[in-house]
Amino acid sequence: MDHFQFRDSELHVEDVPLSAIAESTGTPTYVYSKATFLEHLLRFQEAFAPLDPLTCFAVKSCSNISVLQLLGEHGAGMDIVSGGELQRALAAGVDPARCVYAGVGKTDEEIEFALRSGIGFFNCESSPEYRNIERIASRLGVTARIALRVNPDVDPGAHRHTTTGVRATKFGIDIEDTLAFFEAHAGSPHCELCGLHAHIGSPVREVMPYVVAVERLLATIDLLEQAGHPISTLDIGGGFAADYETGEAPPARTYAEALVPILEPRVRDGLRIILEPGRSISANAGILLARVQYVKEAGDRRFAILDAGMHTLLRPSHYDAFHFVWPCRPPAGMTPPARTREPAIPGLKNYDVVGPICETGDYIALDRPLPALERGDLIAIFGSGAYGMSMANRYNSMPLPAEVMVDGTAVHLIRRRETHEDLMSHESRVAAPASG
Ligand code: LLP
Repeated sequence: MDHFQFRDSELHVEDVPLSAIAESTGTPTYVYSKATFLEHLLRFQEAFAPLDPLTCFAVKSCSNISVLQLLGEHGAGMDIVSGGELQRALAAGVDPARCVYAGVGKTDEEIEFALRSGIGFFNCESSPEYRNIERIASRLGVTARIALRVNPDVDPGAHRHTTTGVRATKFGIDIEDTLAFFEAHAGSPHCELCGLHAHIGSPVREVMPYVVAVERLLATIDLLEQAGHPISTLDIGGGFAADYETGEAPPARTYAEALVPILEPRVRDGLRIILEPGRSISANAGILLARVQYVKEAGDRRFAILDAGMHTLLRPSHYDAFHFVWPCRPPAGMTPPARTREPAIPGLKNYDVVGPICETGDYIALDRPLPALERGDLIAIFGSGAYGMSMANRYNSMPLPAEVMVDGTAVHLIRRRETHEDLMSHESRVAAPASG
């Protein structure tokens, strides 16, 4: 599943003990495994190979340019949602024609930047946005390729914050309005309206929501084509689940087994498929490495206070998300056989694993059975490669963590830790008024 394994009673990333990374880089640090990234990308590509799709990695899940470069060099395009993400994809050497650009609030500057860069597709989310892209493309004398983002009204069974494809979310247009949209907008000399896009939410642990969404999308394509609007591209989005607990997520092959038979005949007829996986590739390719600062008890709780918290990894406090947490050097006999909420190991104690931020909601794990922890212990927070560093922030004036990528025995620093000077580098003091 990944290359973070206990060897000689110590957690290793590929061939490097985590303690060596803590020594050289400090904590908190995001640690990625190159081999895991590539394995997950490869498994995804292999599963969907019969569709010969363009697999666009969701940059928002893990945006470091070294990560994008690695995935780009192994055949991935990019799913971007801002000018900043496009800039990252370009810096990583990814061909902009292999990038798709979603997002409900694209600004004029971002649209112009994407058009000038030669973006593959705009995933357009509304009629006013379409008109705006048309206006800017016409001013630049270029043609924008557009897929309309539709809302297929399918419940993905995800957290309400990350459910995107049901009615009355801000994304896309209602699927019933698709034909009217095409009738109103198709035929513009500066916009080639030739695709449909949907993203139903994430993580989607079941296959059925995709099947229902894709069937609705294909029926809509038929409707459009009968009305004289040829559709060349169908982007079915991302949201494929990851193993936060061992065995929690269906493998890529399971999604593919359900979707390939439905889509393959269309691909034979010339439809091009785009996929936008993020977490299924990045979540287990990274851990967050942190250190216990203090252990204390209060009321009936036992707290392990880390140097990482909601500012470093927001998912637990924002979505109540589960991340498996374990010391990097567990006592003898306490090496976990699997990543689970209730490890079957005798002698564990329950801890609230919390951060240094001045909020009670600042936690990584609550009431979690763990080996006895002490000040100075190194802690691994698993499954943090997706929406970890990319959602980290500087609340309480905490500098952003470092990121390292491990390849066998080689440790590459791919983002240095921020300093206190970095924190203030965009600020200035109001100049004193000139005297006299
Ligand atoms: N495509 C679109 C249009 C998206 O909005 C997203 C995620 C993806 C693809 C990739 O989804 P993935 O395969 O990574 O699940 N911060 C939340 C997740 C928000 C997802 C937003 N959109 C989390 O930490 O779970």
